[in-house]
Amino acid sequence: HMKIAVLTSGGDSAGMNAVVRAIVKTAISKGCEAWIVREGYEGLVRGNTEGHRHTQSVEKGTATPRPKHVENPDDFVHNLRFGDGELLKDGTGDHLGGKTLRGRYIVRVGWDDVRGWFAEGGTLIGTARSTTFRTWEGRLTAAHNLIKEGIDALAVCGGDGSLTGADVFRSEWPKLIAELHTQGKITEEQVKKHAHLKIVGLVGSIDNDMSMTDLTIGAPTALHRICESIDNINSTAFSHSRAFVLEVMGRHCGWLALMAGVACGADFIFIPESPPDADSWEDEMCQKIQGHRDAGKRKTIVIVAEGALDSKLQPIRADFVKDVLSQRLGLDTRVTTLGHTQRGGRPCAMDRILPTLQGVEAVEALLEATPETPSYMIGVRENKITRVPLMDAVKMTQEVAQAISEKNFQKAMSLRDPEFCE
Ligand code: F6P
Repeated sequence: HMKIAVLTSGGDSAGMNAVVRAIVKTAISKGCEAWIVREGYEGLVRGNTEGHRHTQSVEKGTATPRPKHVENPDDFVHNLRFGDGELLKDGTGDHLGGKTLRGRYIVRVGWDDVRGWFAEGGTLIGTARSTTFRTWEGRLTAAHNLIKEGIDALAVCGGDGSLTGADVFRSEWPKLIAELHTQGKITEEQVKKHAHLKIVGLVGSIDNDMSMTDLTIGAPTALHRICESIDNINSTAFSHSRAFVLEVMGRHCGWLALMAGVACGADFIFIPESPPDADSWEDEMCQKIQGHRDAGKRKTIVIVAEGALDSKLQPIRADFVKDVLSQRLGLDTRVTTLGHTQRGGRPCAMDRILPTLQGVEAVEALLEATPETPSYMIGVRENKITRVPLMDAVKMTQEVAQAISEKNFQKAMSLRDPEFCE
């Protein structure tokens, strides 16, 4: 009778709600208790203030019954709906079936609470980039809060930073437990019961920047958003015979820019993994674009990944690219920064399918976990859902970032995806 909690952490991405839905429903179907942690690791640290601790204080809901095969008489929390309150500021407005969630960050949920969540954008349970969880004290409090609720398994959906946090948490777990016991905060029995924390990671990130997996949850939707925006821009660019420089997200990864370039027929793209020669890229770009214009093209689209660099590791800025196009080619040029429109909104089909399949796998990985097995990251490789050791994936992702910062782009690309590189 495992108690499985799920949290979303770091930048939100489309499909995170589908992850929560899949984990909650799979956990309940397999006879486990399902819990959510609000506001990412921050919620773990805040926990449930005394007096609000027990979910029994939430009345039995009256929502539509669950399917017959799901036996869980204790599945009492229904109609989970978060309001618009400032959740991190202990404000009002956050509700659970009409009951306030104030002071409660670790909440047991039922089958109906996540109904329809696969179609919702962002993350309904909240996310944060927690600074307190980065400290030992923060993680100690987080461990205590989990033990107080009797939770023994945690599914974390986030990017590489969030999964690194998960990895640190698990590897420190024995020390955290020992410290809590020394401080008299947990009993001998709790030490035994919670000797191991089971952790699984799912990659939610629009950047598609994680090693050892082909696709991260949210990346396909963000790519769709970019394509829609470029389609919109195309028509106005065509009308005026203009050039547009589009800045797209992706932090240190050029996947969104590269794929959008292919999907929308961009004239030129800049990505961090392939920095152009600092002394000649302006000539090269102008030559290419002039060539396209000479061939009769009425519009020009240049995509700049937000982390794009030149060979001297100087950032390539959309405004600067615009100036080059205007001044050297005389093109009427505008800059559009797509910003967070790329991150929000309804998930596309792929960002419902992937988290659903991965959510099921994540619960299975938790159920099969032993003290000897590593914590897994659930990935996808050649269309198959995979489990890879979380530590390896995180380490390799960090090595990619390191290689990029050392200008070793070949190494970066081969670490990220050896086969693609070939
Ligand atoms: O990692 C996701 C991401 O959207 C990046 O593409 C971007 O650099 C960053 O998050 C933006 O972060 P914030 O939402 O905190 O501005």
